[in-house]
Amino acid sequence: MNILAPVITVDGPSGVGKGTLCRWLANRLGFHWLDSGALYRLTALAALRRNLALENEAGVTAVAAGLAAEFVTETGGAARILLDGAEVGPELRTETCGAAASRVAALPMVRAALLQRQRDFWRLPGLVADGRDMGTVVFPDAGLKLFLTASAEERARRRHKQLSEQGVNASLKDLADEIAERDARDRQRAAAPLRPAVGAEVLDTTHWSIVEVCERALALAIARLGLPGNC
Ligand code: DC
Repeated sequence: MNILAPVITVDGPSGVGKGTLCRWLANRLGFHWLDSGALYRLTALAALRRNLALENEAGVTAVAAGLAAEFVTETGGAARILLDGAEVGPELRTETCGAAASRVAALPMVRAALLQRQRDFWRLPGLVADGRDMGTVVFPDAGLKLFLTASAEERARRRHKQLSEQGVNASLKDLADEIAERDARDRQRAAAPLRPAVGAEVLDTTHWSIVEVCERALALAIARLGLPGNC
């Protein structure tokens, strides 16, 4: 950890556009980027590969604690993600993996096992942390906390567009159902439920373009973290 490195936390429900914003902000500010959802997805994938039941808290926790994962950052902020030495990016982004991640993320011991690994991303010159509990649990002293929201229909539409751009055909109705189910689990769980942190800026992005979201977040980062105005 480095107490001098500023932290921006970005929390919010599935499909709201946190990943796009965080990648853009990290790139723009030259900060590191923590994709905490990827750690839950990697844990779920590794558990499934070992044929573990996703409710097996002790078993999945052992997988999380020993996760052989690597984030290889490339120019432009994109990261190649490796599990047990092999690239798993596309597999990790499937809705099946997202749903499995949401189930293991409800287990308190799994969350505890991943806590320090997330804090290890906190390094100079700064960090943009993307997730569900970044501002409430992992980085409670962050200099800027953002909480993004958008209507469920708009989030399903954004996810659908993102998947079509990747050549993946998905039904808008199925996506909306999956997002609603994942949201309910992430919001209602006892361990670190999805909710805005105290002091968070809640941004309802339903009617905003991604450019507007990025500009608003950058303006807040400059003001709150005391960054140079020409960032
Ligand atoms: O952001 P994502 O879709 O990659 O996250 C996958 C799941 O992991 C999501 O349904 C909830 C869970 N998650 C979490 O509980 N806490 C985080 N900090 C990040 C993700």
